[in-house]
Amino acid sequence: MIGEEELRRRVGCLSLDQKVRLLTGAGFWALYDEPDVGLRAMVVSDGPAGVRGQTWDERDSSANVPSATALAATWDIGRIEAIGALLAGEARRKGVDVLLAPTVNLHRTPYGGRGFECFSEDPLLTARIGAAYVRGLQRRGVGACVKHFVGNDSETQRLTVDVRIDERTLRELYLAPFEAICREAGAWSVMAAYNGVNGSTMTESPLLRDVLHREWGYDGVVVSDWTAARSTEAAAEAALDLAMPGPATRFGPWGDALAEAVRNGKVDEALIDDKVLRILRLAARVGALADAPDAPTAPTAPTGPPAPPAPRGLAGVDAPDSLAVAQELRAAAAAGFVLARNDGILPLSWSVPTLAGLSRPVRLAVIGPNAEVGRTMGGGSATVFPPYTVAPLEGLRAAGLHVTHAAGVYGDARVPAARAPWLLRPDRSGGGAEVRFYGESGELIGSELRDGATFMWMSGYGPADDADPVARLEIRCVVRATVAGTYRLGVSGLGRYRLLVDGAELFDTTLTLPEDTDIAQSLMRPPQELAPVPLAEGQSVTAVLEHEVASSQLRGFGTFLQVNLEPPHSTDEVGIAAAAALAAASDVAVVVVGTTAEVESEGFDRASLSLPGQQDQLVHRVAAANPRTVVVVNSGAPVLMPWVGDVAAVLLAWFPGQEFGDALADVLMGETEPGGRLPMTWPAAEEGLPSPSPADGVLTYAEGLFIGYRGYDRDGRVPLFPFGHGTGYTTWAYESITVDCDVPGPRGPGAVSVCVGVRNTGSRRGREVVQVYAARPGSAVERPAKWLAGFAAVDADPGETVTVGILIPERVFQHWTGGAWDTEPGPFTLSAGPSSASLPLTASLERP
Ligand code: BGC
Repeated sequence: MIGEEELRRRVGCLSLDQKVRLLTGAGFWALYDEPDVGLRAMVVSDGPAGVRGQTWDERDSSANVPSATALAATWDIGRIEAIGALLAGEARRKGVDVLLAPTVNLHRTPYGGRGFECFSEDPLLTARIGAAYVRGLQRRGVGACVKHFVGNDSETQRLTVDVRIDERTLRELYLAPFEAICREAGAWSVMAAYNGVNGSTMTESPLLRDVLHREWGYDGVVVSDWTAARSTEAAAEAALDLAMPGPATRFGPWGDALAEAVRNGKVDEALIDDKVLRILRLAARVGALADAPDAPTAPTAPTGPPAPPAPRGLAGVDAPDSLAVAQELRAAAAAGFVLARNDGILPLSWSVPTLAGLSRPVRLAVIGPNAEVGRTMGGGSATVFPPYTVAPLEGLRAAGLHVTHAAGVYGDARVPAARAPWLLRPDRSGGGAEVRFYGESGELIGSELRDGATFMWMSGYGPADDADPVARLEIRCVVRATVAGTYRLGVSGLGRYRLLVDGAELFDTTLTLPEDTDIAQSLMRPPQELAPVPLAEGQSVTAVLEHEVASSQLRGFGTFLQVNLEPPHSTDEVGIAAAAALAAASDVAVVVVGTTAEVESEGFDRASLSLPGQQDQLVHRVAAANPRTVVVVNSGAPVLMPWVGDVAAVLLAWFPGQEFGDALADVLMGETEPGGRLPMTWPAAEEGLPSPSPADGVLTYAEGLFIGYRGYDRDGRVPLFPFGHGTGYTTWAYESITVDCDVPGPRGPGAVSVCVGVRNTGSRRGREVVQVYAARPGSAVERPAKWLAGFAAVDADPGETVTVGILIPERVFQHWTGGAWDTEPGPFTLSAGPSSASLPLTASLERP
């Protein structure tokens, strides 16, 4: 790696204008190059459920890894490092240098709209999983960008809200994952959040310089969240290094204004030099800085939409649809599934006995809105386009099971994106549509054939160039009826849209949102306009949707639009009755329920924790028809389960990535254990949970330290499932605990070792997550009743006892007081068990 002295020398070679140019993006995802110092343009990309790359385009596919809650539910450091490594391969394949991930904000409340994208309510679990993710990426030369620093734990008014967090809570909870990941995993970049904390917007916050730089010795880059840089001087002084997106002539407060501020003596040039130094250091780390200014850099980024279909010249990088990637994602998804309840029905048997003393294959009724189209990721900037997804229904069929299907209810409140078999390209060459781009004088500039019906253009349109800007778009497709009935066809987006079917105008409308609507919400949940299209079975019609790009309120950002289509479907009442009848005629009912993009997405919080639509009613009726009902919950965060006591098993699948259905078949049939343990407390009801809604622009974290299980313990409330809960397919006895035992590995000052012996008391090999919680009996300091201190996974055969050693760092015993970390001398306990609510073993120790 290029040394510090050489980096400084190169900074010194640049003029003020050259330096300032490097501090704002060149576009949405690319930074500037600077040939004078051997710097090529670095590329950043979202994250965290895959590496999207520079385009938002289904033709540029990406491996879709399980969402953050699913990853955290594995409690498996090695597996998360491997996922980080897989993502590093994806990044290289797509020419990406820095992945805008992981998201390490906390689950302060289950209402947080982006909870699926954050790991846990617990800072230690978040830190460990986040650090593993970062190591996996960075060991392979791809930078992580840990986000969103700090206090972006919910979405309501996230651009402007001032989050008030007391100093101790800030240190012990919300800053803790950032601190651990910056110090221990050495993250190469950190993203400053949109919100403010205690009176300063985060791109200007004193926490950047005072805590991140000075206390933690952080030497990486601070990147603004997209458009979060708000001032020229204050942001420059507060240690923001990179304002995104760019260019400065379109976005952000730097560019010429910053150079001017330096020339006028308002901003010290030494600050600019430090920012450039950090950017060159990042470039050296990711391989974007040539050894000598005129030597070539490696690797080079492929640019321009869409990216090449297959990886080339990247040894050891598997394609997102390769067998190797599929196997890893299938195992990772299963490792995160949490078996929250099981009366013994799981794993399912392949066959059932008949009266004649023989056996026949088990008949499985697979029911629910998420059975046919599973949700593999949450919505928002985390969106990627997987090369394929395996739906639950498809995975169970592929496993060779005897499967029948009924959707039961229609899950989406909004009409979803149009898809095959109803949506076809005009030439019928496949599912999808043709997009035509027209210039200002109405001439056709170009066209593209697309595979889907969701379109987002951020940095220009496919064929356009500056000389001939795109003024109008046309989406052309064929709608084909599989059954007779009234289809609903339309669009989601902003601006003016005209829909023609077989030449007849169905609407000409202008869609708007209030001007202060969050950009992510405007993109993900824009208004929808629909028109009824009655069709006979087998009938096809040609649809043309016209849009003037300048008519959108978001034209500065680009264009997002989606063609929506709802085929005729039965009412929920009829669907539920049919599903219950199917369940009654089957040996087992598997009901796959879940949330939708309108519930769990970036840009807004959840209004309710209930499953959307009539899904609860569906589960009630199916369970009443067949007591052998297994519910699979396809959500990124907790949902209420008023039916939990009526069903035989509940499996929490999260948003498990592209291999959903295959992993589900593995786990239901017992090929693989459900490896997950809850990374958050699963509420039984909505009462008593922190609110994400600010009052007068201020969101006060009044509950202080008492989020998640810490709050339940304090208030004596009982959740539906406690933090850390989950079972596998065997049973365990917790047999021994010893403090100060022999544990290999680097032990920091003040760390304590604890060894826990567990025995597999069941009849099959299994995996257990041994959890250790600390407590301070008789403390003079207000504290949680207990807090997670460490954990480790063990694998054991039936009858086998395994002793696992866990190192508990000194920080676990410390609390923040008077501006410093302190340990209250005296007795602490360490308790071990399978969840926060079941800790059969306790050992005591004294801290000096
Ligand atoms: C999100 C970030 C994301 C960025 C770029 C923002 O709206 O908050 O997490 O990385 O957009 O897409």
